[in-house]
Amino acid sequence: EKAGFKHFMAKEIAEQPAVLGDAINHYVKKDGLDLPEGIDFAGLDRLTLVACGTAYYACAVAKYWFENLARLPCEIDVASEFRYREPPMPAKSWAIFVSQSGETADTLAALRYCNEKVEKTLAVVNVPTSSMAREADLALPIHAGVEVGVASTKAFTCQLLSLAVLALKAGVDRGHITETQLAAHLEGLRALPGLMNTALGTADEIAGLAEKLAEAQDILFLGRGPLYPLAMEGALKLKEISYIHAEGYASGELKHGPIALIERTVPVIVFAPHDRLFDKTVSNMQEVMARHGKVLLVSDARGLREASEGTWATLKMPEVAEPFAPILYALPAQLLAYYTAVAKGTDVDQPRNLAKSVTVE
Ligand code: M6R
Repeated sequence: EKAGFKHFMAKEIAEQPAVLGDAINHYVKKDGLDLPEGIDFAGLDRLTLVACGTAYYACAVAKYWFENLARLPCEIDVASEFRYREPPMPAKSWAIFVSQSGETADTLAALRYCNEKVEKTLAVVNVPTSSMAREADLALPIHAGVEVGVASTKAFTCQLLSLAVLALKAGVDRGHITETQLAAHLEGLRALPGLMNTALGTADEIAGLAEKLAEAQDILFLGRGPLYPLAMEGALKLKEISYIHAEGYASGELKHGPIALIERTVPVIVFAPHDRLFDKTVSNMQEVMARHGKVLLVSDARGLREASEGTWATLKMPEVAEPFAPILYALPAQLLAYYTAVAKGTDVDQPRNLAKSVTVE
């Protein structure tokens, strides 16, 4: 069942180009987006996205998309906080619940709360027969296929894809994306499986770096814009399976505290495609290097040309359409966690203390 791979997680990481391609084919047709009836974001005042764990980080990326591509005010929350805070919900709002299993207790409770309060609830799930799919007004399957590894990988990138498609639809509905712009964004999405294949080509290099990372006590992840949630996801993945303490920060937050942690033994992994915020991230990275932090810069050819000097290591990603960079950069984040765990000899598919689906609080 592992198809020759040592772990389900390795198989599920490697599957992503094919799986994402399949998910794209479900929602992106030659002449545009193909979504279930009843999804129209035109008159909304606000969108709320609720989830737990990795699914929450997918929501945190999507917030950038809904705000930038559709100018739709967007709140995100972890389900365990949302459900007990019982926040007021504007009548003209929708709420989206993101969950691989569709059974996570807190997310399901948040969905039930919103079913009474908002115009429409939408479940973005991998299991189409799940409680959330049944109880939400609308269900959108992410088409990732069965995910066995406790550490979520292909479900994360497929959650991102589904949310990207929804954000594009919102942009069109709200008049912020023209037909020409939509066509360009869809090209950007269609290019992803090929780019992911290229990214998977860094696996051996990452395995080499992981030997060193496995010796660390603490590892920091940095990113800006939509790469900030990816930094948090990278840290979650790493701590989950390698048991190394890791934190994801917005690059700009570094000098507000975490920079005090920097010393020779602390690796700092920076996700920084050459986007409009690149120079800002580089200056944060230089602050780390000035304090002898070991920087691993993950960027594209242009970014590496401009900013490799003084880093401990670099990883080259192909160029990617700017908004969708987190979908591609998820792969090195997953591979770094995977190979570090393998180097430490942990139980990658069944990490201690964790369950695949958290159906009790
Ligand atoms: O099934 P769900 O997507 O609702 O699960 C949410 C989290 O429990 C899950 O993403 C968890 O954080 C993963 N183990 C992360 O790899």
